[in-house]
Amino acid sequence: MLPPPNSTAFPIPSDEALQVSAELSALIREEIIRAGGFLDFARYMELALYAPGLGYYSAGSVKFGPAGDFVTAPELSPTFGRALAVTLGADLAASDAHVVLELGAGSGALAAQLLDAWASQGRGVDYWILEPSADLRERQQRMLARFAPRVRWLDRLPTTPFKGAIVANEVLDALPVSCFAKVAGATRAVGVANGAAGFEWAVRGSATELAAAVARLERSLGAELGDGYRSELCPALSGWLGALSATLERGSLLFVDYGLTRGEYYHAQRSGGTLVCHYRHRAHADPFLYPGLQDITAWVDFSAVADAAATANLTLAGFTTQAQYLVALLAATPGAFGIDAASPREQSALKTLILPGEMGERFKVLLLRKGAAGPPLPGRDFRARLA
Ligand SMILES: C[S@@+](CC[C@H](N)C(=O)[O-])C[C@H]1O[C@@H](n2cnc3c(N)ncnc32)[C@H](O)[C@@H]1O
Repeated sequence: MLPPPNSTAFPIPSDEALQVSAELSALIREEIIRAGGFLDFARYMELALYAPGLGYYSAGSVKFGPAGDFVTAPELSPTFGRALAVTLGADLAASDAHVVLELGAGSGALAAQLLDAWASQGRGVDYWILEPSADLRERQQRMLARFAPRVRWLDRLPTTPFKGAIVANEVLDALPVSCFAKVAGATRAVGVANGAAGFEWAVRGSATELAAAVARLERSLGAELGDGYRSELCPALSGWLGALSATLERGSLLFVDYGLTRGEYYHAQRSGGTLVCHYRHRAHADPFLYPGLQDITAWVDFSAVADAAATANLTLAGFTTQAQYLVALLAATPGAFGIDAASPREQSALKTLILPGEMGERFKVLLLRKGAAGPPLPGRDFRARLA
């Protein structure tokens, strides 16, 4: 997603959108009352994003593009999909596989770019999509109608393990996170309470699991987090990667997202955490603004992803920045991209994807493999930084 513009004013939603937000808020308020007045932030995030028919990803808001809330790499330029087509294509060939599973396909833009690239090479790839949002699934079906026989939507991960590749762009950042704070040397859960003017942050004596997870984190950092330090972690991550590994007999997993290594993520200077909300191209830190009408995300701790991958029997095959990855790939196979260098729009999109101050450094590319070989991930190898 793109960095925040200067304006901090939030456009007022339509009456219809406000009505959806009010219904979702009522549902969350009830759940907070049932939970005794305090809700884990991960549960709040899950409801705000995915409550059936009401959550941000479940209801019908525009989300992507200029009229939505944010822009992702495949929405910016087909070069992104063509690059991933090279990497995924090489991994499929190495595993003699013909299936790609995309998680969270958004508008379907990446799927269309990948399928176009492979069709132009005369390559038959079956494309599966696992998309929790019914609204987005409908949009994807419209966008990908011309590839109809090749594309299939799944309701859950396949129970019979398959050979192939799994790909997810900006999905890890959408996994719900739990928030914590260090108070007088102890870990406290930071969650959500009902306030007079809407939802508000609340701090509670820590849940044992969260305190244990923060203690493990501090052990791997080699130091305790300071008093007042506040951040988040993703309790769903290991189960999620474990399930992905279980569904993959042999092949690879490619993740692209904004994130950091553990040392950077939990650096003393990043003492307020990494939550970012996106509403009509304003990036801000208030997850209680218009529940259900804005995206809520957290940066990805790629060291945690690498650890969870190791536990799930997956091999860390590559880790680099999006800038490194794209520049190396473009330099190695310029002909594969059909870039219109004379197009100001394409030039501007490429700069956004690659420049360090834009998406180039914030976004990382992580490649995992299971029982499969394949070429190295293009770009400088930063795997050692994940330790
Ligand atoms: C920020 S959007 C990114 C969409 C698209 N990949 C792109 O790059 O434009 C996040 C996507 O992840 C999906 N998503 C969220 N949690 C998911 C999960 N656990 N499994 C699969 N998809 C998920 C959302 O519904 C949405 O399609």
